[in-house]
Amino acid sequence: MCGIIGAIGRGEDTLDTLVHGLSKLEYRGYDSAGVALTGDGERIEIRKTAGEIDDLRAALETNRPSGRAGVGHTRWSTHGPPTDENAHPHADCTGEVAVVHNGIIENYQSLRDELVTAGHTFHSDTDTEVVPHLIESALADGADPESAFRAAMERIEGSYAIAAVFAGGDAVYCAREDSPLVLGVDDGATYLASDVPAFREFTDRVIYLDDGEVARIDDDGWAVTTLASEPVEKAVHTVEWDAEETGKSGYDHYMLKEIHEQPRALRQCLRGRVDELGGTVELDELDAPPRPTAVQFVACGTSYHAALYGAQLFQDAGIPAQAFLASEYVTSPPPAGDALVVGVTQSGETADTLSALREAKGRGARTLALTNVVGSTVSRECDRVIYIRAGPEIGVAASKTFASQLAALNLFALATANGGDREALGALRDLPSEVQAVIDDSTAAEVAEHYLDAEGYFFIGRGLNYPVALEGALKLKEITYRHAEGFAAGELKHGPLALVTRNTPVIAIATGDDELARKTVGNVKEVEARNAPVIAVTDGQSDIERYADHVLPIPGTHPRTAAVLANVQLQLFAYHTAAQLGRSIDKPRNLAKSVTVE
Ligand code: F6R
Repeated sequence: MCGIIGAIGRGEDTLDTLVHGLSKLEYRGYDSAGVALTGDGERIEIRKTAGEIDDLRAALETNRPSGRAGVGHTRWSTHGPPTDENAHPHADCTGEVAVVHNGIIENYQSLRDELVTAGHTFHSDTDTEVVPHLIESALADGADPESAFRAAMERIEGSYAIAAVFAGGDAVYCAREDSPLVLGVDDGATYLASDVPAFREFTDRVIYLDDGEVARIDDDGWAVTTLASEPVEKAVHTVEWDAEETGKSGYDHYMLKEIHEQPRALRQCLRGRVDELGGTVELDELDAPPRPTAVQFVACGTSYHAALYGAQLFQDAGIPAQAFLASEYVTSPPPAGDALVVGVTQSGETADTLSALREAKGRGARTLALTNVVGSTVSRECDRVIYIRAGPEIGVAASKTFASQLAALNLFALATANGGDREALGALRDLPSEVQAVIDDSTAAEVAEHYLDAEGYFFIGRGLNYPVALEGALKLKEITYRHAEGFAAGELKHGPLALVTRNTPVIAIATGDDELARKTVGNVKEVEARNAPVIAVTDGQSDIERYADHVLPIPGTHPRTAAVLANVQLQLFAYHTAAQLGRSIDKPRNLAKSVTVE
């Protein structure tokens, strides 16, 4: 959480570059924002405010700082409420050092006590503020800025991506431990940020920092070293997506844009990986993987729902598989035999998922990452990686990445377990155009209008539609702030039915006409008998429509892809409910896109 940026070499443009970068990082947190610039003066110029980047922009209109080098921050609060004082950057007592930080400094209280005893004055509740004061102490002891920065990094424990500027300085320093940090290299300018979109408009050349590394960016470019000052050779990568891909392209919200991008995202995911004639799937990343004896998935939130779906695919192929909430993985039984542990994470930076994967490695398991972000921490820490290729997702609520995760999990299961399932391959081929058809014809906006005053929403489904029911409920609660729960359809009568009334619509997903669908229809009759309105998401193969007040149709297809199509209707239902309620759809309250704390 939190987004940081730094830049040098953009002359008069540095302030605008920082603010532009922060607006691209706002998905990481939006409680408060600030910038610090350093020029020839003796003090650093800091401007910061509670609120979003637009509030910062407004504050800067009347009071623009200038400077050649600078850092910026957009915050998701962990220590202290979102106030002006707690906004980053934080400075030392002299105003000569300014620091921005993403992560958590675990030993900050003892450091703060020590610094206060030594005479330092603190102005915020944050853990971060110890850093500029530690740097100040080292400077007072005679260290130069770079050594003082390193000395501070050596004292702190926890997770961090930190950047600092010094008054009158000609460089920006940064370091990383357990939080993402990437450099951007341009002709005559260099950037650092939590994520590439912050500077993608200016350059496509990037360097991913690893844990324990320190970088200095200055007019000569960049240099990466270990904390102990050993030089590190770093590869410069080229990112393959355009800056425009992170704009809204005329949609009211990123989330709506990203829902509409799903056909393209799915095509990208499938491209070059399916040989339908030969009936095979080829994932270059896996180069003929041995069939694992078992698969354990670890993930959080939406990615956990994808993991539940993935586990069913492997079970269907005869490979024992289980999905775990990453934050609970440590209490699970160790993987048996030649088990593979798969981290499903769109950002590749989720602390709970990374920690579960490290636990799995510690237990001797092979690990694989299924992620969207090239160069993310998960992609570098796992033995193997499969990219879902969804393109950048900015809306905080995951949409296109979930669809791409499901598609990639199909590829993964087919490649590992039973490549020759031609029906499934054909269904995957048709999936992008079917998703397009669902988007084009969806009446979710009109249906949503009928239920804006509902007391709560229940989502039910069985089999592969069970994770979709969970995801439908999560999406709705995240962006509408309304109470919603997802259940395995058969569970409703074991308790939740007590909550079902004429004011609680039940959204039931029933696809196909097999036993699962027939039983789901039975569960729908139970809620109908309690006068609850029913919204059926169906391909019309069962008779669920007879019991439904509204129908959100999808084309008839394979059960695996039916789940993806049903989810598109649920995304649109959640989106339009939130839009009609006037919610902050791309930046729901209290949430952040990349959750880098446990
Ligand atoms: C919900 C959502 C979150 C994430 C979760 C894991 O819309 O986006 O539940 O799915 O925080 O994030 P990743 O996939 O980045 O590990």
